[in-house]
Amino acid sequence: MSINNTAMFKLSYGLFVLTASDGRMSNGCIINTCTQLTQEPLKISICVNKSNYTHELISNSGVFAVSILSEKAPFDIFKRFGFASGRDTNKFYEFTDCEIGENNLPHITGNFSNAFISGKVIEQIDCGTHTLFIADVTEAEVLNNDKSMTYEYYFANVKPKPQPEKKRGYVCKICGYVYEGDELPADFVCPICKHPASDFEPLK
Ligand SMILES: Cc1cc2nc3c(=O)[nH]c(=O)nc-3n(C[C@H](O)[C@H](O)[C@H](O)COP(=O)(O)O)c2cc1C
Repeated sequence: MSINNTAMFKLSYGLFVLTASDGRMSNGCIINTCTQLTQEPLKISICVNKSNYTHELISNSGVFAVSILSEKAPFDIFKRFGFASGRDTNKFYEFTDCEIGENNLPHITGNFSNAFISGKVIEQIDCGTHTLFIADVTEAEVLNNDKSMTYEYYFANVKPKPQPEKKRGYVCKICGYVYEGDELPADFVCPICKHPASDFEPLK
């Protein structure tokens, strides 16, 4: 069996904020796994990691909302909903870019999302680490015609790239030899051209 995992990167995905509630407080997480299943009647599916707090909320309540993120969604949205758990933090605290739908769940508003879809779970399929929730669509609204964000767009334009580490040290003005370190010893002699420490300058 030949499996090249990077073939998975060729699948095209959208990015979504999935919201749910325990009846008192709402929570949400980022997912890339929302799919329309059927048209008549309208059904969608979402696939959620069992360790996510949002999974627990959907399992218990049977309802959720999916906000389709547009290319205007900044990294802050991903940081808030995708890099922290609602078990440790109230993700909707002082968050104003949302409105409440018919099922009392918040969805992300037009600055960052172009549509939302609410679902009522009709079936749960155990997929090991994840649960596939199949749901009837109970509400759906278009907010604007901004382009939907794809996973590819997120990686290319939204997710910050790791900054190359800045080297600290001193460069020999005579031959270009680089001494790496915070302090250049006063008696240092260039191992290449034999010039003294006074011929070195800090790396820019
Ligand atoms: C770009 C991106 C895509 C993600 N896709 C999924 C996904 O499809 N399913 C999932 O369960 N978690 C996904 N996650 C991870 C959850 O959003 C993350 O674990 C979140 O912190 C869970 O929050 P919660 O514990 O409050 O539910 C994704 C995260 C990011 C940043």
